[in-house]
Amino acid sequence: MKAKDKDMLKVKKIENGIVIDHVPQGSAVKLLTVLGIDEDFKGTVSVLINVPSASTGLKDVIKIEGRSLTKSDLEKVALVAPYATINVIRDYTVIEKYKVKLPEVLEGVIHCPNPNCISNKEGNPKLHIKERNPLKLQCNFCEKVYAEKEFKF
Ligand code: CTP
Ligand code: ZN
Repeated sequence: MKAKDKDMLKVKKIENGIVIDHVPQGSAVKLLTVLGIDEDFKGTVSVLINVPSASTGLKDVIKIEGRSLTKSDLEKVALVAPYATINVIRDYTVIEKYKVKLPEVLEGVIHCPNPNCISNKEGNPKLHIKERNPLKLQCNFCEKVYAEKEFKF
């Protein structure tokens, strides 16, 4: 074994599923919650926290066997990890690689944090991206502006 190999982080490649790379340091666990990965999920999940990254210092990475992402999942990932790269794996090969993109409007993806908001009683939640860094979202209905940490996923 070469000296360099000894220092390398070894995590098994996955056969079929997704790898979410370039997740902000410390956001991996939240991302699992956002994606609804809980004790009922049966696929193998690897969570890497504080991985040295060439560009940003430290990052998190998540590998999920047997899972694909819907449009709504991708929008939620973009909220928590705006610079994430999604790798789609089939038969151990990366068949697709793309960056997440936060749209201008999130419709039916997350609920307004305001319990009295009409959107929580009837209709579909709709939030506009007001600012991207730091993230601020404005509810289409109660018109209040919220930071990302105020949302329950
Ligand atoms: N990966 C995996 N299982 C596979 C193939 C890839 O877990 N069967 C993981 C790799 O470990 C890596 C990510 O998916 O974390 C992307 O793989 P790849 O495109 O091969 O790596 P890089 O070229 O280093 O990616 P990038 O250029 O996006 O940084
Ligand atoms: Zn509202």
